Amino acid sequence: MASQSAIGIHDLSFATTEFVLPHTALAAHNGTDIGKYHLGIGQHSMSVAAADEDVVTLAAAAAEPLIARHGTDRIRTVVFATESSIDQAKSAGVYVHSLLGMPSYTRVVELKQACYGATAALQFAIGLVHRDPEQQVLVIASDVSKYELDSPGEATQGAAAVALLVGKDPALVRIDGPSGLFTADVMDFWRPNYRESALVDGQESITAYLQAVEGTWKDYTEQGGQALDAFSAFCYHQPFTKMAHKAHHHLLSTCGYDTDAVDVKRLIGRTTAYNAVVGNSYTASMYLGLAALLDHPEDLTDQDVGFFSYGSGSVAEFFAGRVVPGYRKHLRTEQHREAIDRRGTLDYAAYRELHERSFPTDGGDHPTPVQTTGSFRLAALRGHKRIYERR
Ligand code: HMG
Repeated sequence: MASQSAIGIHDLSFATTEFVLPHTALAAHNGTDIGKYHLGIGQHSMSVAAADEDVVTLAAAAAEPLIARHGTDRIRTVVFATESSIDQAKSAGVYVHSLLGMPSYTRVVELKQACYGATAALQFAIGLVHRDPEQQVLVIASDVSKYELDSPGEATQGAAAVALLVGKDPALVRIDGPSGLFTADVMDFWRPNYRESALVDGQESITAYLQAVEGTWKDYTEQGGQALDAFSAFCYHQPFTKMAHKAHHHLLSTCGYDTDAVDVKRLIGRTTAYNAVVGNSYTASMYLGLAALLDHPEDLTDQDVGFFSYGSGSVAEFFAGRVVPGYRKHLRTEQHREAIDRRGTLDYAAYRELHERSFPTDGGDHPTPVQTTGSFRLAALRGHKRIYERR
């Protein structure tokens, strides 16, 4: 039987949107000092979905390179984590399965618990691989984060998808040891079925996040986890990048460390490059942090990384991973930079128009304007059915 230490993330790829809105444009619109965005929350720009992009097109774009490299023979499960779901019944993953031409002998399911969903998917995937180490699981985290225009949350929007191939003898990160878990019934952030944008109590959400950091760490320690200083880096869920720094300061003081004596910037700074320019990608956010960490030029071979995954509402998990020797050969650093650099810059008016866009609900034929230059697009809503195409 395969041991826990031999299972983990074998490959990772992310995709983001056609467009980007710089925070300078948002600040000029609402009269905010840019220092609040750049330093106060640590965000420089946000990815904005084109009219013909959604969680499915982003997910297909993220997963396509994994399928191209590894094929589909061993993938018998696709778990799609999202909180910007497009259907109450059908899994968004089934559309992706079809767009990528995957075989019918696959189980496909969608998972939801706010931003935590992808971590649940990863843990379930590890369980499936334990059961049959010859199988691989495709985990996809894909989200478009949307708050009300002119609300405090607006500056933390973003969108991206991360695809992870989970299997035995992973080439990137082994997931090791116990998990620290924490669930609390809080209304810090939620989105009722009838709303497109999330509702949030900003300060309450930060407090709830920090309580979850404490709660998961306590449980992780009680489960026999490693000491805090065993980790070379920490990948936090990043609703905005400053939150990761806040969280780590909080964890250090909870554990009795003098935060001035610890180089928090070094422990967190290598995980924030992508999130600072993509924005909150909800379920994908922590894994975008991992992508940035692995793509960073500093070698991480055999080093331990701590992961803190948080989903409002709330469920959180702390777990550890060890970076595998030779991991650099398998990275997609250039493709990741290209995904970010290729985005077209929107002005504020164009962003606002996209934000306000929604499909009529009359069951008619509603084609979308051709905007994305990516391989997958949402071509229309026709007879209440989403019509996707692959170029
Ligand atoms: P706000 O009221 O606009 O901002 O809301 P603020 O007044 O709290 O200022 C933010 C920071 O900027 C502060 O720093 C200010 O001092 C600083 P802090 O005190 O926190 O260290 N600041 C400046 N710095 C430099 N120069 C300046 C300047 N002015 C102010 N000129 C808030 C901010 C994050 C609450 C808001 O954007 C929001 O509601 N965001 C959405 C909720 C959110 O992201 N919550 C995070 C935790 S919950 C979570 O992570 C889950 C989530 O991802 C959803 C899910 O799980 O599905 C959201």
